[in-house]
Amino acid sequence: MEALRAEKLSKDFGGVQAVRDISFQVQRGEHLAIIGPNGAGKTTLFSLLGGQITPTTGRVFFERKDITALAPHRRVHWGIARTFQIVNLFSGLTVLENIMLAFQGTKPSRFQLMRHAMSYGKLFVKVEKLLTTMGMWDRKDEFVHALSYGEQRKLEIALSLATEPKILLLDEPSCGLTGAESAEITGMINNLESDITVIFVAHDMDLVFGVAQRIIVLHYGEIIVEGTPDDIKNNTKVREIYMGYQGRAKR
Ligand SMILES: Nc1ncnc2c1ncn2[C@@H]1O[C@H](COP(=O)(O)OP(=O)(O)OP(=O)(O)O)[C@@H](O)[C@H]1O
Ligand SMILES: [Mg+2]
Repeated sequence: MEALRAEKLSKDFGGVQAVRDISFQVQRGEHLAIIGPNGAGKTTLFSLLGGQITPTTGRVFFERKDITALAPHRRVHWGIARTFQIVNLFSGLTVLENIMLAFQGTKPSRFQLMRHAMSYGKLFVKVEKLLTTMGMWDRKDEFVHALSYGEQRKLEIALSLATEPKILLLDEPSCGLTGAESAEITGMINNLESDITVIFVAHDMDLVFGVAQRIIVLHYGEIIVEGTPDDIKNNTKVREIYMGYQGRAKR
C-alpha cells in the first residue's frame, strides 16, 4: 500500500533551485534512504514532506490524500513524524517530561508538568515501554542538558515515536554519533514495528546499508539514481559523486 508520494516537487529559494522535479513513492513499512552530497537538497525535501515549507510546484500525498497544503502539526496528527538535523529538545526538562509532552501533545488532554507522571496510568506504561526499548529508562529523571549528544539524538527519535507515527522522517539520525551509538540507531530502526514507514537522510553508509531497502540519490536537487542498496553500491555515477566528498562507500 502506498504510504507517501511526492509528485514533481520543486522548491526555489530565490535563485537557488534546492529541489527540482522530484517524484517518488514509498510503500507502507518500507525503509527508504535519501543520500547525496552536502547541499543536494535532502533537508529541503524533508521539509516539503514534513510541511515546514511549501513547494514552489508539485504535490505531496499521504495514503493517496493530497497533504501539500497541510500544516506540520496536522501532518503529525495524521501520522507523519519528523526529526531534525539539529537537536530539538526541551533542555531544561527531564527525559521523562520530554516524552510525556510528546505523547500528550497530540491528545486532547494535555500533559501538565506539575501532575505526577505516575498518575497518567496507561500513558505511563507506554512511556516506560518506549524508553526501555530505546535503552533510556534508567535515564528518565536526567535533565536533557545533562545527556550526552548521542543520548539526546536517541531521545529525539523516541519523541517522534511517541506521536505513534505511521511514517517516520529522520534527518541524519546518526550525525555526530560514535560508531557504537550509530549501530544502536540502526538496530532501533530495524526493530520498529513492520508497518512503520521510515524515510531517512544519512551520510553514514553503515546506517544507510544497514537499514535501507531502497535508496534515492540526490544531486543538485534532482534524483540521479534510485534503486536497491546493491544497485546503488555498483552505480558508477554514484561512485563518481561520492569520490570527491567522502571517499568510497563502506561495505
Ligand atoms: N531557507 C533557505 N534559504 C535559501 N537557501 C536555502 C534554504 N535552505 C536550503 N537552501 C539551499 O538549498 C540547497 C539545498 O540545501 P539542503 O539543506 O536541502 O541540502 P542537504 O542535502 O540537506 O545538505 P546537508 O547534507 O549539508 O545537510 C543548498 O544550496 C542550500 O544552501
Ligand atoms: Mg541537510
